[in-house]
Amino acid sequence: MSDKGRTILITGALGQIGSELTIALRDRYGNENVIATDLREDEEGRLSSSGTFSKLDVLSTEEIDTIVKKFRVNAIYHLAAMLSAVAEKAPEKAWHVNMNGLFNVLEVARENDCSVFFPSSIGVFGPSTPMDGTPQVTIQRPESMYGITKLAGELLCNYYHDKYGVDTRGVRFPGIISNVARPGGGTTDYAVEIFYDALEKGRYTCFLRSDTYLDMMYMPDAMKAAIEIMEADGEHLRFRNAYNIASMSFTPEELAAEIRKHIPGFAIDYEVDPVRQKIADSWPNYMDDSAAREDWGWKPDYDIAAMTEDMLSVLRKRIDGDAD
Ligand code: NAD
Ligand code: SER
Repeated sequence: MSDKGRTILITGALGQIGSELTIALRDRYGNENVIATDLREDEEGRLSSSGTFSKLDVLSTEEIDTIVKKFRVNAIYHLAAMLSAVAEKAPEKAWHVNMNGLFNVLEVARENDCSVFFPSSIGVFGPSTPMDGTPQVTIQRPESMYGITKLAGELLCNYYHDKYGVDTRGVRFPGIISNVARPGGGTTDYAVEIFYDALEKGRYTCFLRSDTYLDMMYMPDAMKAAIEIMEADGEHLRFRNAYNIASMSFTPEELAAEIRKHIPGFAIDYEVDPVRQKIADSWPNYMDDSAAREDWGWKPDYDIAAMTEDMLSVLRKRIDGDAD
């Protein structure tokens, strides 16, 4: 597909990733070419002020099809989903939203010749997966409902590519750290909450154990990955389920130490949530992303030091601005 001719539909656009990815895609392809949608109304005008926003439930194939036809969409970023912690509280609903939502998107994509971006996750791995340098192709036996739906989603994307020729592309996002919309109920949310509490209270109570290693990624890198894989030459993509992508891996204690370089008195303590701890313990310590680097040139810009500095600087300005 020519990059100039892209008309994009985003589902779940009001979430943590969509709130920023929508704007990045509008900057790149033009405001009028990026249609943002969500189950919720855009009450704050975050996305409707710069382009089209429409309510859309991904559980309705008809609603998706109508918007795709109306705006002549040819690429879908399917972000709508329930994340790991909320999915574990309502597993039946999570299966319904995560699986049937994706199925509907793929069906509409098949009938209307759209490419599809699918955000998979570190959640597709489980306790029997090699934890260090987790390979692109390895044992995948997730034990959370979120992970099960993301793994089945990867396989479904691969199926639609192989059977129907749908141009499906995906990445396994680490925990995403960002400063616009708050996270939607995941196991990695501590790595965002900690920054707000560090600046507002000087302390943070973490729901994961101090020594829990997890892959994380700063939002600018996550958006770069989502855009670059969709623009990559399809001939070079060996994997149509999803690619491992990585940039930094740390424990809560290591992140607290990094924050202390900027806020020396910052304190952290721990009240472990057993549900989220069990999920985190079953996810990789760090992934091997060499396949993404080889196939479509993936390369992140932020490590833990650069991310921490930027997060604190952006949030400090916002908090100071609110106080004026
Ligand atoms: P989020 O929870 O912040 O946002 C999800 C959005 O989907 C919400 O705005 C919600 O209103 C919407 N939604 C829920 N049900 C819907 C439905 N039936 N129809 C339409 N919209 C619906 O999630 P996020 O963090 O922005 O994540 C976006 C995608 O990226 C998800 O698929 C998620 O699994 C994946 N992902 C996120 C992370 C992360 O750390 N944020 C990591 C890995 C993968
Ligand atoms: N950040 C996500 C979660 O914790 C990972 O996919 O659910």
